[in-house]
Amino acid sequence: MTSQSGSAEDNQATAVVAAGYDAVYAAVDKSPTLRRLWHEGAEGPDFPEEFGHISFTTLADLRRTASELRLASGDTLAGLGCGMAGPALWLARETGANLIGVDLSAVAVEKATTRAVALGLGAQAEFRVGSFAATGLADESADGATSEDALQYAPDKSAAMREVARILRPGGRFVFTAFELDAARAALLPVLSADPVEDYRPCLADAGFDLEAYEEIGGWPEPTIATYSSIIAAREDLVREMGEVAVAALLSEMMMTVEGRPYRSRVLVAATRK
Ligand SMILES: C[S@@+](CC[C@H](N)C(=O)[O-])C[C@H]1O[C@@H](n2cnc3c(N)ncnc32)[C@H](O)[C@@H]1O
Repeated sequence: MTSQSGSAEDNQATAVVAAGYDAVYAAVDKSPTLRRLWHEGAEGPDFPEEFGHISFTTLADLRRTASELRLASGDTLAGLGCGMAGPALWLARETGANLIGVDLSAVAVEKATTRAVALGLGAQAEFRVGSFAATGLADESADGATSEDALQYAPDKSAAMREVARILRPGGRFVFTAFELDAARAALLPVLSADPVEDYRPCLADAGFDLEAYEEIGGWPEPTIATYSSIIAAREDLVREMGEVAVAALLSEMMMTVEGRPYRSRVLVAATRK
């Protein structure tokens, strides 16, 4: 069951996002075309394909995240909005931390679990359905938390930051990448209009974090628009490989992004829980 909090409107938006991602995750393994385009456009040639993902995380982003998390072997890492958990599992392997991955999509959670076992990380990783605002994790149970390109979907960013502060021990770090939203443009779009945060710093401060780093990831618009455009152009092949429902879910967000340009920046953020 999806764990949620917040208004009925937020929960409805969250259910729509979960259903869309369920459809995509159920079909993603069937599409060599999507895998190829994502690897070429978003991951980059040096990204280890066994940790492949559907964000814009590069190997450089992962190395920086691992170093900012400051985890020791045996620590607990919460991976939020982890999807099929390629990046989060890479971080667990790199740092020796035990991963608890959380995502809205039950299909993603199932696939992440299978993948952890296939990568030999089954004893070091577990996954559960939950949201940014209601992870289901205990107070101060994590030494670090991370997320890749998912926070922009949270319908209440302040609630999400408060939840991350609650599950982190004092001194634990939250290191994430996310898209800052252009409020005026996002206001016209479903899901992103729920809470179009242009800058994550105020809600991090209000939730009790000290900011360590807040940086725009250079050159971010190019891979985003180029990857989405190449995937939109490959629609026919994708439908043949994945089916209409999954492709409709996948392309609706991509078309919205290419046409509506709701993002003002992609940022890498590191913050310490006071
Ligand atoms: C662009 S994908 C990135 C997934 C993963 N981090 C990766 O690198 O492949 C965004 C993810 O955020 C999840 N998500 C969206 N809204 C969420 C929310 N409110 N709480 C938790 N996860 C959410 C989606 O289910 C999806 O798996």
